Amino acid sequence: MTNTLLIGTTNSHKIIEIKDLLPDSLFPIKTLKDYPEIAPPEETGATFSENARLKAFYYSRMTGSVVVAEDSGLEIDALDRAPGIFSSRFNNSSSYPEKFRVIYEQLKQRDTRIKTARFVCALTVADGNRIIFETQHTVEGEIAQKPKGSNGFGYDPIFFYPPFNRTLAELPAEDKAEISHRGKALRALRLFLSETQQHI
Ligand code: IMP
Repeated sequence: MTNTLLIGTTNSHKIIEIKDLLPDSLFPIKTLKDYPEIAPPEETGATFSENARLKAFYYSRMTGSVVVAEDSGLEIDALDRAPGIFSSRFNNSSSYPEKFRVIYEQLKQRDTRIKTARFVCALTVADGNRIIFETQHTVEGEIAQKPKGSNGFGYDPIFFYPPFNRTLAELPAEDKAEISHRGKALRALRLFLSETQQHI
């Protein structure tokens, strides 16, 4: 086994959130910036966890490193859980304000009493074709009446978190990490690494 952990994502916002919760006091963290020649894999899985595995296996095989990869997205109940695994590709990868506009447009056609939504994060750590750790977590909330806030990324401005009475984009990074799907998944990984004394 190598003694580094490679973060298998090209999303710079995810890298920041992951690095914040996985300090490299345990082991050195590398990112795909160290491997500019590797193109991302096609995300052909049917579920978050299939896509997380696919990315972890792919980047681990390509680099020989142990890889932590995650697949995440927003499920809106009134839209039959769309955009789900297609969150980043939703509406042909248009800008987020444009994605929000289409979502609010679609919601107008549906049952307006159903406001619930959740972010999902499936996380896999792989060494070659071997899974070392897997977990999946969610944060439950609602679609905001309108986008609000400028922190975070992606769909954060339209995800209202009732216990804080704010959207995720109105929260400081530490507060989002406390309750978010990705924060929960990374804390589970940290616990696994410390409990098993796993030196990657
Ligand atoms: P992936 O890179 O295929 O996993 O795509 C994940 C997509 O889901 C992101 O590009 C965002 O659109 C959305 N997403 C995942 N996590 C978050 C989050 O914490 N906040 C806002 N949007 C998120």
